[in-house]
Amino acid sequence: MNPVEHGFPEDPWELLRDWLPSNDDPVRPTMTLATLDHGIPDARTLLLSEFDAHGFYFHTDSRSRKIEQLAADPSVALMLHLPEQRRQLTVQGIAEVAPDEESARVYRARSPYLQQLAWQNTVEFAGLDDADREASWASFAAAHADGFGRPPTWIGYLVRPSRLTFWFGSESTASRRVEYQTSPGGWAVSFRAG
Ligand SMILES: Cc1cc2nc3c(=O)[nH]c(=O)nc-3n(C[C@H](O)[C@H](O)[C@H](O)COP(=O)(O)O)c2cc1C
Repeated sequence: MNPVEHGFPEDPWELLRDWLPSNDDPVRPTMTLATLDHGIPDARTLLLSEFDAHGFYFHTDSRSRKIEQLAADPSVALMLHLPEQRRQLTVQGIAEVAPDEESARVYRARSPYLQQLAWQNTVEFAGLDDADREASWASFAAAHADGFGRPPTWIGYLVRPSRLTFWFGSESTASRRVEYQTSPGGWAVSFRAG
C-alpha cells in the first residue's frame, strides 16, 4: 500500500503548502520544538516563522536555553497541532542557523510588540516587579517611537527535516498517518496507523 498510488504527493512540500498558512499570512501557527538537554528531552512553544523547500524556520533569543542545547546537539522534533482541521504534523530534523537575510525579513514582519519583546526579554527584566516592568516597557516604547531595529541577540534557525509524519483525523472513520522519510532515492512514503 503506497500512499502515492492513493493520490498522496511524492513530495511532502506539496502537502505542507496545503496544510500551512502562507509565509505572508500575519497569523503564524504555533509549534512545539523539542530539543535534548544532556540527553533529557525539553520542549517549548514557538511561532513557525516561515517554511520553504529547505525546512521550517523559527526565531528566538541567542542567549536562550534552547540555543545552548542546539549547540550541543542540533537534533530536534517539531510538532504542529491544527485542531480545526483535525491535523497534526510531526517532524524530525536537524537545526542550523538560518541565513541572516531571512532573519532580517522575518523581524521586519513581526508586530511592534514582538519586536520590542526581542529587546526586553531578559532575565533582568523578568526579575523586576510588575510596576517596574510596565514603566520600563512604556519608556522603551516611547524612546523607540520610530521603530525597533533588530537586536543582535535575535537569531533564526532552519530545521531541515529527515522525517515528516502527517496525521489525518476524521469524524467518520479511523485516523491515519502518512509518513515521508528521507532515503537515497528521494522520499520514502508510507502509511502508518493513526
Ligand atoms: C504561543 C507562544 C508562542 C511563542 N513563540 C515564541 C517564539 O517564536 N520564539 C521564542 O523565542 N519564544 C517563543 N515563546 C516562548 C517560548 O515558549 C519559551 O518560553 C522561550 O523561547 C524560552 O525557551 P527556552 O528557555 O527553552 O530557550 C512562545 C510562547 C508561546 C506560549
